[in-house]
Amino acid sequence: MTSDALENLSHEDRSFPPPAEFAAAANAGVDLYARAADDRLGFWADQAREFVSWDTPFTEVLDWSNPPFAKWFADGQLNLGYNCVDRHVEAGNGDRVAIHWVGEPEGDTRTITYADLQREVNQCANALTELGVVKGDRVAIYLPMIPEAVVAMLACARLGAPHSVVFGGFSAEALRSRIADAEATTVITADGGYRRGGPSGLKPIVDQALATSADTIRNVLVVRRTNQPVNWTEGRDHWWHDFVGRQSGDHTYTPNDAEDTLFILYTSGTTGKPKGIEHTSGGYLTQAAYTFNAVMDIKPDSDVYWCTADVGWVTGHSYIVYGPLANGATQVMYEGTPDTPHRGRIWEIVARYGVTILYTAPTLIRTMMKWGADIPGGYDLSSLRLLGSVGEPINPEAWMWYRRVIGGDACPIVDTWWQTETGGIMISPLPGVTATKPGSAQMAVPGISVDVIDDAGKSVPDGSGGYLVLTEPWPGMLRTIWGDDERFVDTYWSRFPGMYFAGDGAKKDNDGDLWLLGRVDDVMNISGHRISTTEVESALVAHPWVAEAAVVGASDEMTGQGIVAFVILRGDAEPDDDTVTVLRNHVASQIGPIAKPRQILLVKELPKTRSGKIMRRLLRDVAEHREIGDVTTLADSGVMDLIRTGLDGG
Ligand code: WTA
Repeated sequence: MTSDALENLSHEDRSFPPPAEFAAAANAGVDLYARAADDRLGFWADQAREFVSWDTPFTEVLDWSNPPFAKWFADGQLNLGYNCVDRHVEAGNGDRVAIHWVGEPEGDTRTITYADLQREVNQCANALTELGVVKGDRVAIYLPMIPEAVVAMLACARLGAPHSVVFGGFSAEALRSRIADAEATTVITADGGYRRGGPSGLKPIVDQALATSADTIRNVLVVRRTNQPVNWTEGRDHWWHDFVGRQSGDHTYTPNDAEDTLFILYTSGTTGKPKGIEHTSGGYLTQAAYTFNAVMDIKPDSDVYWCTADVGWVTGHSYIVYGPLANGATQVMYEGTPDTPHRGRIWEIVARYGVTILYTAPTLIRTMMKWGADIPGGYDLSSLRLLGSVGEPINPEAWMWYRRVIGGDACPIVDTWWQTETGGIMISPLPGVTATKPGSAQMAVPGISVDVIDDAGKSVPDGSGGYLVLTEPWPGMLRTIWGDDERFVDTYWSRFPGMYFAGDGAKKDNDGDLWLLGRVDDVMNISGHRISTTEVESALVAHPWVAEAAVVGASDEMTGQGIVAFVILRGDAEPDDDTVTVLRNHVASQIGPIAKPRQILLVKELPKTRSGKIMRRLLRDVAEHREIGDVTTLADSGVMDLIRTGLDGG
């Protein structure tokens, strides 16, 4: 959080009230704030009853007797598969489209109604059962953005078998470590998926992951998507179209407890080991469904919603799968990249399906800005009525462009702050209520309590910045880190006793509205993807040429931050022109292409304090071409000169 950032934001005083027509028809009115403030737990109980169907009604809302281990609606029972699918069919909406799926290759589309989804989820649940998956077993899902990803997640939810979705862009090693940590018994994957104009393989990566250590995996279910040739392990591997296809479309579910684990989703922490964020059922669904209704203002009869995230991230879990489907929404799901086969792809899809609500990331908006307003200008975007942003701070310029060029100056924008850990949206305008400010996420949604505090844990006054904290438990909160309660307590609850420390900096403006300022820990945010500096450092030092590495996130106009690595080679390494390329590719193979450093600088020394801690602040100065800051705590003050001379020379 630089003082520059604070300074820039304090000049922003534009504000846009919601259009009268939008406000008049909005799902959420201003009264929600008063209701929630009046009786927070009563408010959440109301949401849980309004948005969720319970097999056994709960009698207790929150059990906070053993903080920070929360239980919400603990004696209630429900089934998330039923809530997201069957109840809509029962209500007579089986013919409603759940998913307009668009594959990357031109003309490759599927339309899936709620009745179709019900049949497919039931078949998949029966297939998993035949494979021996029972309640509590973990299922790893490693799929492209195809409908089977949603089907697989819902089938797991139906069985009470926690899913662990691993983003399809992660490497074999990343997949292997996640499978091992969760001790998954089953993998659901595909031969491949289409990205950037061609098929890319997934099954070979699964094979590679399982070759190194796969003690717990008994079965691999493989969707045929690209028809690429694949290796086959008899007895272990099964084709989805055979195995799922021959199952019955009927399946009787068993209710699960509200606190049964729904999923594990791995995210980067400040160490090299990813954290398995664990979410449970009743509270999570309550928050996902309620926020989707209040913030995304969904009208299931008329809206066509589109979230451009991947199901491999939490945004895909909460706002492609659980929130929208619990609300009975119709949505677009797209397999590919925004520039394939042409740069107007996103807008072509918006126009073709009459998308009314678009939820995307600042990186995509900035990319579109760079490509030019002419491209969206070539499509009819008049169906849009609400725009959302998530994943990283949105700069006022991008926000204004989004409003003007995409929204035609007529759509409210909701900038939504939340995390894998929070499960659902925490800070956001309400689109029919809030006068929005370009670049501000503004205020906690009704039912959520946030504050900005200083080092001493004291609430800062309006006009000042500090650390963002959550001051009360909330239904969608993570319950723990999988298998590591201690790390859960240490990471989030020990820095400021009694409060959840989010790891983000924030500022309250003079009206008390919140402006998010980015991470204050060693986590980088690259195009909205969380990657830890330590994780990239560990990948680098795992290479035989590397003696030491320090990684920083340097600000980047397009991706928010870019990964810059400072590397000291071993004495016996003989660098040549390809060294940097080899090391960049090495990181991609260890973690995934998203973690490939933008830049690797070969240096002779790293700046360290006397206690040996690398001073990243100074490296960030170098990476961002700034004057080097205070070096008085450096053990060897000549180091920075050395680094800079080395850079100038190289
Ligand atoms: C950042 C994504 C500013 C933040 C849902 C957070 C944001 C991290 C915003 C979580 C926003 C997310 N404005 N920053 N609207 N939304 N972030 O777990 O640093 O992938 O801590 O969850 O993204 O990333 P995650």
